[in-house]
Amino acid sequence: MDRILINGGNPLKGDVRINGAKNSALKLMAASLLCDEPLTLTNMPDLADTRFMAQLLKHLGVEVSRQNGSSMVLHAKALAEPYAPYDLVRKMRATFNVLGPLLARRGRARVSLPGGCAIGARPVDLHLKALEAMGAQIELDEGYALAKAPKGLHGAMINFPFVSVGATEHAMLAAVLARGETVLENAAREPEIADLAACLNAMGARVEGGGSARIIITGVDHLNSATHRVVPDRIEAGTYALAVAATGGDVCIKNCDPAHLGALWDRMRAIGVSVQLVDEQSVRIIQSDRRCQAADVETQAYPGFPTDLQAQFMAVVCRAEGASIIRETIFENRFMHAPELSRLGADITVHGREAVVHGVEVLHGAPVMATDLRASVSLVIAGLAAKGQTEVNRVYHLDRGFEGLERKLGALGADIKRVSGP
Ligand code: UD1
Repeated sequence: MDRILINGGNPLKGDVRINGAKNSALKLMAASLLCDEPLTLTNMPDLADTRFMAQLLKHLGVEVSRQNGSSMVLHAKALAEPYAPYDLVRKMRATFNVLGPLLARRGRARVSLPGGCAIGARPVDLHLKALEAMGAQIELDEGYALAKAPKGLHGAMINFPFVSVGATEHAMLAAVLARGETVLENAAREPEIADLAACLNAMGARVEGGGSARIIITGVDHLNSATHRVVPDRIEAGTYALAVAATGGDVCIKNCDPAHLGALWDRMRAIGVSVQLVDEQSVRIIQSDRRCQAADVETQAYPGFPTDLQAQFMAVVCRAEGASIIRETIFENRFMHAPELSRLGADITVHGREAVVHGVEVLHGAPVMATDLRASVSLVIAGLAAKGQTEVNRVYHLDRGFEGLERKLGALGADIKRVSGP
């Protein structure tokens, strides 16, 4: 099994280019099921998760091919049996979002309930309620959702009791081909939702308000071929910004959308890092070799501080001057990186959804274990800032969401390498 070895202490310097967003790409790939003509996605990241989603879509009858490195063409000309087995769904939650498109196009589907990162219960009740409101009949049987819509899906008024990114996207994916109008209230406002709306509209759908709390979808009879560029990955961009905050240095993050990270820039400035918005696609992060200041953070749905950057922020404030309080409001079990960071010498106490981090002057390298995607990159960040060697095990978690991490960090001056074998 691969491991990552880091000799910490090098400041990061130079430019880094950000890929398309994993969290958007997976839902855009699911959208290909809605149409019998090709969907071309550009700026597509090449990740374990996108490859896994491609495998599932191929099983469902979609022809998937990569072109010119970062483009992918998905052609769902004729669908196979609408059955998504456990083995092709279990590794990540986004796969569950094939249920709505399959129902919309085929009128029935059998999809395994999802897996994903081990960061809490992560139910799908809101997804199922939204599809039921549109006329689907759904039974849960032995870990599968068995769904049918004998008379087709119809528009509905759906008021989400709380914000869910996955359920908002799922409802959009089903509603674009439903009869009549669907209104989503209290919809998630993440940039990835606006991206999905833009892609669906390019395919001929009628989606208004994507990226706002109220989305109105007028169903159409069929969708057509389109080309869409995947929105930049704000979590990858934020991760590199926080790596610079941890190690010190001067890095220009390119091909990103700095406007999507306002809550992060606010917290980074609060801990004393210089964040300079260069243009609409680049941001420059400068940090001297002084220690950062402590600051509190609370995760929230967009435009709040992203839960997907909580672990990385914690890695930074492990060395801050003073105590920081980190509150996780989205997932109930998302501090699994805390005991691993403590192995490097961090002083962290977790009480339920709150972690108190007392900054220490120095972290020391040690072997640590990745537990989920974002937790694993927080260990890399801590390792880059620690004295001595850190060995990060179970790096397959990292490969789910960060393309070329060692290459990109190495190019910025980090001493980092991947080794295979025992
Ligand atoms: C969440 C994050 C998203 C992040 C992704 C991957 C939020 C609001 N969402 O999206 O930014 O990129 O994880 O880490 O920050 N829930 C239910 N029932 C449902 C669906 C969700 O109870 O049917 C709960 C979840 O358990 C969670 C909350 O709602 O506590 C938000 O979940 P949701 O936004 O749906 O999760 P993801 O789509 O995975």
